[in-house]
Amino acid sequence: MQPLHFSYKKYNISLPLPVLAVSLVLLLSLATPISSCTEQEKKSLLQFLAGLSQDSGLAKSWQEEGTDCCKWEGVTCNGNKTVIEVSLPSRGLEGSITSLGNLTGLQHLNLSYNSLSGNLPQELVSSSSIIVLDISFNQISGDLHELPSSTSSQPLKVLNISSNLFTGQFTIATWKGMENLVALNASNNSFTGQIPSHFCNISPNFAILELCYNKLSGSIPPGLSNCSKLKVLKAGHNHLSGTLPDELFNGTLLEHLTFSSNGLHGILEGTHIANLTNLVILDLGENNFRGKVPESLVQLKKLQELHSGYNNLSGELPSALSNCTNLTNIDLKNNNFSGELTKVNFSNLPNLQILDLMENNFSGKIAETIYSCHKLTALRLSSNNFHGQLSEGLGNLKSLSFLSLTGNSFTNLANALQILKSSKNLTTLLIGLNFMNETMPDDERIDGFENLQVLSLTGCSLLGEIPYWLSKLTNLQMLYLDGNQLTGPIPDWISSLNFLFYLDISNNSLTGGIPTALTEMPMLKSEKTAAPLDPRVFEVPIYLGTSLQYRKVNAFPILLDLGNNNFTGVIPPEIGLLKEIQSLNLNFNKLYGDIPQSISNLTNLLELDLSNNYLTGAIPGALNNLHFLTEFNVSFNDLEGPVPTTGQFSTFTNSSFGGNPKLCGPMLIHQCNSAEQGPVPTVYENQGGSKSIFTITFSLFFGLGVLYDQIVLSRYFG
Ligand SMILES: *[C@@H]1O[C@H](CO)[C@@H](O)[C@H](O)[C@H]1NC(C)=O
Ligand SMILES: *[C@@H]1O[C@H](CO)[C@@H](O)[C@H](O)[C@H]1NC(C)=O
Ligand SMILES: *[C@@H]1O[C@H](CO)[C@@H](O)[C@H](O)[C@H]1NC(C)=O
Ligand SMILES: *[C@@H]1O[C@H](CO)[C@@H](O)[C@H](O)[C@H]1NC(C)=O
Ligand SMILES: *[C@@H]1O[C@H](CO)[C@@H](O)[C@H](O)[C@H]1NC(C)=O
Ligand SMILES: *[C@@H]1O[C@H](CO)[C@@H](O)[C@H](O)[C@H]1NC(C)=O
Ligand SMILES: *[C@@H]1O[C@H](CO)[C@@H](O)[C@H](O)[C@H]1NC(C)=O
Ligand SMILES: *[C@@H]1O[C@H](CO)[C@@H](O)[C@H](O)[C@H]1NC(C)=O
Ligand SMILES: *[C@@H]1O[C@H](CO)[C@@H](O)[C@H](O)[C@H]1NC(C)=O
Ligand SMILES: *[C@@H]1O[C@H](CO)[C@@H](O)[C@H](O)[C@H]1NC(C)=O
Ligand SMILES: *[C@@H]1O[C@H](CO)[C@@H](O)[C@H](O)[C@H]1NC(C)=O
Ligand SMILES: *[C@@H]1O[C@H](CO)[C@@H](O)[C@H](O)[C@H]1NC(C)=O
Repeated sequence: MQPLHFSYKKYNISLPLPVLAVSLVLLLSLATPISSCTEQEKKSLLQFLAGLSQDSGLAKSWQEEGTDCCKWEGVTCNGNKTVIEVSLPSRGLEGSITSLGNLTGLQHLNLSYNSLSGNLPQELVSSSSIIVLDISFNQISGDLHELPSSTSSQPLKVLNISSNLFTGQFTIATWKGMENLVALNASNNSFTGQIPSHFCNISPNFAILELCYNKLSGSIPPGLSNCSKLKVLKAGHNHLSGTLPDELFNGTLLEHLTFSSNGLHGILEGTHIANLTNLVILDLGENNFRGKVPESLVQLKKLQELHSGYNNLSGELPSALSNCTNLTNIDLKNNNFSGELTKVNFSNLPNLQILDLMENNFSGKIAETIYSCHKLTALRLSSNNFHGQLSEGLGNLKSLSFLSLTGNSFTNLANALQILKSSKNLTTLLIGLNFMNETMPDDERIDGFENLQVLSLTGCSLLGEIPYWLSKLTNLQMLYLDGNQLTGPIPDWISSLNFLFYLDISNNSLTGGIPTALTEMPMLKSEKTAAPLDPRVFEVPIYLGTSLQYRKVNAFPILLDLGNNNFTGVIPPEIGLLKEIQSLNLNFNKLYGDIPQSISNLTNLLELDLSNNYLTGAIPGALNNLHFLTEFNVSFNDLEGPVPTTGQFSTFTNSSFGGNPKLCGPMLIHQCNSAEQGPVPTVYENQGGSKSIFTITFSLFFGLGVLYDQIVLSRYFG
């Protein structure tokens, strides 16, 4: 029998009631004790249920809780048995919001984190009782300006319509009666037009305005200065232009100001930014601000976070920063700063946790005072002109988890490793493109690095062999040794690194065969439980090349890159054991023999590059098993016979096969004649479909192994 609660959905007082609903309503109303909620309110709530297309068991729950709707899940009444609150966040509700406007005493309505759709009913926004309205994280659509302007004053204080599908502009009419509005969160919709400021004239206590992730344009309205109580102003990720208006700096109560990722410009020096003495978070990242960091910042004693990455700021960092003693986070990456860091006395910033100065033009040695910031968890100085040896002081940073010094001119790698090895919390160490032409330290005394999970020594032209101390880094997940001049074989201990899933040793002078140890690497071989995901690893997210951003280690492909070395011998058939591998590069070596049939077992492969070797024989037809393969290259070998043409192979062109005169196929100059029409491929599968699953392909050639990294600003959104 159909469970009773399904009948609620058909409940509609203008239609004959289904029998079950009638009996339920009768049941509920007959049994109503005197002190129970009113009939009218119960009806409204039931009608709200009826408007839902999916109630995830709410009807059942209410039914079980009896006839007094004041006792229903999510419903709260006052002493007079009037419903004053309906709070059903994350309740799996679908369908549209109806009838709640009939609850004449409703003050708090929270329907956040459901899948509600349709429009926001007018009577809720213009309600004469609702104080807090939170419908964030749904799929509610429509224009706000279509709402009726109520002339009478409304009690609404908090309106959270964020993360929905609202469109249109804010107009004066929208705010007419909202004298009591304190907080508006309209982030993450598709609002257009200008930042609204009308309510500043209407609502004297207006304090919180969040408008991030919309399509707002135009300049920042000076009218915002009339919001004299404004504490939070966030309008990041819009299309705003122009400069910061002087009036903005009248907002002396402002604690949080975010305009990141817009098209704003101008210089900060000479503005009255120092008036904002209550500022805790300032985020102007990803705009076109230029000029110096103003000395007047010295006034901002409460400042904790300064984000101004991706601008065109220049000059030295002012000593004034030392006076902002509450700073926890300084993010000035990708600007045009220069000079030494010595003006800032970091000793005065004992709370500093993140210092990100990547991609500037800083020079000199790392300021010694940085080493007194004991709470520092992430330090990124990559792509600057720092030089010298690392200081012992670095070892004092016991909380340090992420350190990137990539792309400077640091020297003495052996010393650097001795200093860093005791940093017990270090999970990510990116120090490539330094230590040019030094010898890879291979010292028994290098140990420690207990928690190191990501290590990059990319592009240092280091001499020597792959050192034994790496075998002691038992938590290592990603290892970049590419772009050095390492010689000797791949050591057998490589398979003892239980969590290593990303190994790039390309562009060295390594020799010997491909050892079977490599085919025994646990993470590449089996569907072993994934390596532990440690949120500290990318304390600040990193990215490769210019567009791929990574915030978690497991976003990287499972990869083995041995390209551009002097490896010889055959490709061992055991390579077929690496079932998890997604990217395999053996190009530019001296490998000979056949392409092993077993490679067709590597069904997770996205990329396979065997080009520029001495491989012979036919391309195994079974490779068309590799449904996810998006990059394939066997060019410049000595392969022969027909090229597979089904499955993903229907998408590969001449460039994948060129330089093999004995290969034939439809995409090659050399067409197969009937004698060459080798055996029919054994597997016919649905063609091609899987390619689109992967919106990101992991190019083997990304930035030639240069590990760049940077914060994703959106991290600070919200
Ligand atoms: C709620 O109010 C609307 C009009 O405002 C009315 O049509 C509807 O019947 C009412 N519902 C209940 C359950 O009273
Ligand atoms: C609504 O409920 C969610 C989830 O419990 C909560 O995070 C949010 O703060 C509530 N909204 C209001 C305005 O209290
Ligand atoms: C909606 O915004 C209000 C006011 O800022 C806030 O109190 C509430 O927690 C937000 N709701 C959610 C689900 O975050
Ligand atoms: C924006 O809204 C969508 C849909 O609710 C949600 O998945 C996404 O996380 C939101 N983005 C932000 C930055 O809050
Ligand atoms: C607001 O700022 C403007 C420009 O800086 C200034 O002329 C005006 O007097 C300020 N208004 C108030 C109320 O402080
Ligand atoms: C950055 O500002 C300098 C002047 O300080 C100017 O010469 C340069 O063109 C600007 N660069 C960009 C990318 O806007
Ligand atoms: C950086 O600033 C210098 C002057 O200090 C200027 O010549 C140069 O163009 C700027 N670079 C960029 C990329 O804006
Ligand atoms: C930096 O500040 C500390 C603590 O306030 C002080 O002891 C030290 O002398 C200062 N160092 C420099 C170089 O000014
Ligand atoms: C970086 O600074 C050096 C001086 O320290 C200067 O010669 C060089 O032009 C600067 N580079 C850029 C890109 O501004
Ligand atoms: C090291 O990391 C652990 C785990 O995140 C943390 O509990 C501990 O406090 C950190 N140690 C220091 C000295 O910060
Ligand atoms: C190989 O590494 C050297 C440094 O050892 C570097 O100069 C070169 O650009 C790299 N080549 C490729 C193709 O990555
Ligand atoms: C405002 O909305 C955005 C997007 O839904 C959310 O990330 C943010 O936490 C909200 N702010 C508050 C104070 O609830």
